[in-house]
Amino acid sequence: MAYIDWSDKLSVKISVIDEQHKKLIEIINDLYDAMQKGKGKDVLEDVFARLVEYVKTHFKTEEKLMAEYDYPDRKDHETKHNDLTYQVGQLAIKAQTGKITVSLETMAFLKDWLYNHILKTDAKLGQYLKDKGLH
Ligand SMILES: [Fe+2]
Ligand SMILES: [Fe+2]
Repeated sequence: MAYIDWSDKLSVKISVIDEQHKKLIEIINDLYDAMQKGKGKDVLEDVFARLVEYVKTHFKTEEKLMAEYDYPDRKDHETKHNDLTYQVGQLAIKAQTGKITVSLETMAFLKDWLYNHILKTDAKLGQYLKDKGLH
């Protein structure tokens, strides 16, 4: 069973963003899987590296759209992205140095962050872009 299941309620109605959110969920599920199976440092390091990379790619996509469409809440949204980029980066460093085994708390943190961010912050952006004619 996957740790996070995609459902329509997570859709922000903009396909490029939805597709990337699905991919993020996939990586978080891989992380959960690695944790559950008690995988070693190498696997965790690798999954964290993928997470860091994809978080960056995804945030860049949203930030580009915000700039292009002159989104009024851009600064605030970007601050939230920067906070998570930092926190995930810290987790990745700890994974690299073998200082963490992924805990349920770590997983819950990532899941809560993603849900909250998608349902509140990204949904608002999605609606704005939709009103501008994007889909
Ligand atoms: Fe976002
Ligand atoms: Fe997002």
